Formats: sequence, C-alpha cells, structure tokens
Amino acid sequence: MRLDVVTIFPEYLDPLNVSLVGKARARGRLDVHIHDLREWTYDRHNTVDDTPYGGGPGMVMKTEPWGDALDQVLADGYEAGAHGPALVVPTPSGRPFTQALAVELSERPWLVFTPARYEGIDRRVIDEYATRLPVYEVSIGDYVLAGGEAAVLVVTEAVARLLPGVLGNAESHRDDSFAPGAMANLLEGPVYTKPPEWRGREIPDVLLSGHHGKIARWRRDEAFRRTAANRPDLIERCDPASFDKKDRETLSILGWAPEPGGRFWRRVEGVEE
Ligand SMILES: C[S@@+](CC[C@H](N)C(=O)[O-])C[C@H]1O[C@@H](n2cnc3c(N)ncnc32)[C@H](O)[C@@H]1O
Repeated sequence: MRLDVVTIFPEYLDPLNVSLVGKARARGRLDVHIHDLREWTYDRHNTVDDTPYGGGPGMVMKTEPWGDALDQVLADGYEAGAHGPALVVPTPSGRPFTQALAVELSERPWLVFTPARYEGIDRRVIDEYATRLPVYEVSIGDYVLAGGEAAVLVVTEAVARLLPGVLGNAESHRDDSFAPGAMANLLEGPVYTKPPEWRGREIPDVLLSGHHGKIARWRRDEAFRRTAANRPDLIERCDPASFDKKDRETLSILGWAPEPGGRFWRRVEGVEE
C-alpha cells in the first residue's frame, strides 16, 4: 500500500517510522511519502491560509497550495506505478472512523491524506478531487483537535495492522473489539498473562482449565459484560439472531430485555412499561 501525507508539519508524522507502522515500511508492506505543503507556496511568507469569506474567527487553508500539491503528489504516484488513489480528509465533520472503515481503507492500494490546520481547507479543494477519486472525510471522534496529523497517525495504525504480513500473528485481530465475525459489535473482554497471582490478585480459574469451549464461553460473557457497561449502544444495534441462550441469560442478568421486534434494550429501573 502507498501512503502520501501532505501537511504543514511533516515532523509530526515521525512516529510513522516506529513500531508496527515502521516495521510495515521496513518489510515493504507500506510505502510512505510525507510532503510539506509549504513547498507549493510561492510567496515570501509561504502562506497557506487566508481569512474566511463571510467573516468569522480563524483562518482557512487556501485552494492553490493544496491543489498544486495534490496534483503533483498524484502525478508522482502514478509515475511510480501506484494506482487506485483515494483521498482521506481528516475532519471533525466527517463520518466516524470505525473498524469497518479501517478494513475498507486497508483494501485500497493508495491513500492520500490531507490533514489540515486552522479552520480546515477551502471546500472547493475537496469538491474538485471528489470528481476524480473517492474521497473519505473521516472523523476520529467527537472532539476537535488543533490539526489532522494525529488523525492520520490513528487511521494509519489501524489500517496498517490489517495489512497481510504486518502483524506477527495473523489471528491477532480476529478477536479484537469491533472485529467482524462471531463477536461482531462486542468489545473485547479482559486479558491476562503470567504470573498467575500478582499482589494477591488471581486470574479467573477458567483460563487455566485448558477447556477451549469453557474459555470461549467465558470470553463471550465478559465481552457482553464490558459492552453492556461501556457501550450499550453496541448491544442495542446487535442482531438478536446472533445471541445464543446463554447470551440472553447474561443480558437479562445485566438488566437487558428484548423488545417486541427482538432487539435488546436496557430496562430502566423504576419505570413501569
Ligand atoms: C481546529 S480543526 C478545524 C475544526 C473546524 N472548525 C470544525 O469545527 O469542523 C483543524 C483540523 O484538525 C483536524 N481535526 C480536528 N478534529 C478532528 C477530528 N475529530 N477528526 C479528524 N480530524 C480532526 C482536521 O484536519 C481539521 O481541519
């Protein structure tokens, strides 16, 4: 996979040299190119922003540097043999970045990121490139960062660990929280390693039983417990057809009940239905 990032803070992307993403680069699974947007400015002050039309606080990133930069980055990538680019635009007003979206992006051969600063990029830039390539406007959460570089790091790490040959154990992401499959929509439960006792705290006996069926059951129950506590919205969205008898019992103990349509909702204490 090829990644291009255009930014006014190239050094912010230095972490892409370490850990899992760094190894993916070293193994040739990721070909990363970081570009300084200011290289496509032609005035003495290397200006990339200007005041907003319509007034208001803050500055807006200008069309010209972004347009020239993206034209060049795309042309260079094509010349180097890359194909199928998609633009990834970090913005708090984008669609939420989820594991499903990480999977979708990991299947693309070439991602071009446009992390912004100030109040964001002049809209015409996004509209222009949307006529030429798929554009993903992505938010990494319901909060506002000072710039999109941290979002690029988040998206890149989530995508890179899904690429074949990047994780040491290809099974590692199978049971992750949000992973597609049997545990889809559930958070992963607690995990433990040696020693078996630490400061008087023991690990659950079942994990030492060697009984794969019982361990799988325990993990699923714990996943339900954690999801119900931290992300009730995920349980509400679950397809009840994926619940077995024990899941239903666990949910009932946790205070959940099926509505007539079958989906589960948390019973509100003290409210007569
Ligand atoms: C200060 S923010 C601009 C916020 C903008 N005024 C708004 O409310 O949508 C500057 C840049 O940081 C990045 N950014 C901030 N929060 C983000 C988030 N939650 N997800 C992805 N990118 C974000 C985007 O690149 C954004 O253009």
